[in-house]
Amino acid sequence: MFKLTNKSVIITGGGSGIGKAMAVLFAQQGAEVHIIELNDQAAADTVSEITAAGGKATGYACDVSKQQQVIDTFAKVGKIDILINNAGIAHIGRADNTSTEDFERVFNVNVKGAYNCLYVAIPALKTNGGGVILNTASIAASVGITDRFAYSMSKGAIHAMTLSVARDYLHDNIRCNCISPARVHTPFVDGFIAKNYAGREDEIFEKLSKSQPIGRMGKPEEVAALALYLCSDEAGFITGTDYPIDGGFITLNN
Ligand SMILES: NC(=O)c1ccc[n+]([C@@H]2O[C@H](COP(=O)([O-])OP(=O)(O)OC[C@H]3O[C@@H](n4cnc5c(N)ncnc54)[C@H](O)[C@@H]3O)[C@@H](O)[C@H]2O)c1
Repeated sequence: MFKLTNKSVIITGGGSGIGKAMAVLFAQQGAEVHIIELNDQAAADTVSEITAAGGKATGYACDVSKQQQVIDTFAKVGKIDILINNAGIAHIGRADNTSTEDFERVFNVNVKGAYNCLYVAIPALKTNGGGVILNTASIAASVGITDRFAYSMSKGAIHAMTLSVARDYLHDNIRCNCISPARVHTPFVDGFIAKNYAGREDEIFEKLSKSQPIGRMGKPEEVAALALYLCSDEAGFITGTDYPIDGGFITLNN
């Protein structure tokens, strides 16, 4: 089960955290992995790890918020079977203290970046007879999280785009779902704790761990396992759905 032999997979942001865990697992399952990354060194490191283990992977330097770069990069990749829109950035703030610059930066990467990849990938998937799209949303798409105004906006958009794409390409044999992790321990989390809570790192790490009723943060490998299932042929009956992976965050926080 869950074999991806001969499948060509694009993973945006595959150089770090959740995207990296997906890249490693998908390659282990036989996929040819294409990592699209702003940080080309991170992409190269992941590619080296995969090829050293006998897998197939290539890295591409690309900013997903720039449509022409996405068009050029997808042209280099060629045939694709699976697109994972995973690249994303964090932001802390409320509606009345989020600057226009920050709002637009989060929008450009998290929303427009996903749109740019959908815009280019869908015609290629249709030509190919179908495929799978998996978008990375967040629990912030469906729960009010303190101080996450712009970020929540961007993840709500990811959820809505997922429903729209799933509906529009039902008859093109394209399945589209999204996943909504709660806190997962990645450089993304360490980075925003360091940036926003300097000197209180341990206290905030503990607080963020406890905000999942299960008592800890998720692991990137756990999210990658869900992604593998949703992108595999075994999940052929699943489209237009959001999958929380959240240690009980949405349903048990009472
Ligand atoms: N870690 C969490 O707690 C958590 C929870 C819910 C959702 N998510 C989402 O999961 C996804 C991955 O998060 P992560 O924690 O692995 O983050 P991460 O920061 O560890 O990795 C994200 C990667 O995306 C790349 N990236 C950023 N902007 C890019 C751009 N414009 N073009 C191409 N690549 C770009 C970065 O270089 C980085 O390697 C994000 O969409 C994030 O919003 C994370």
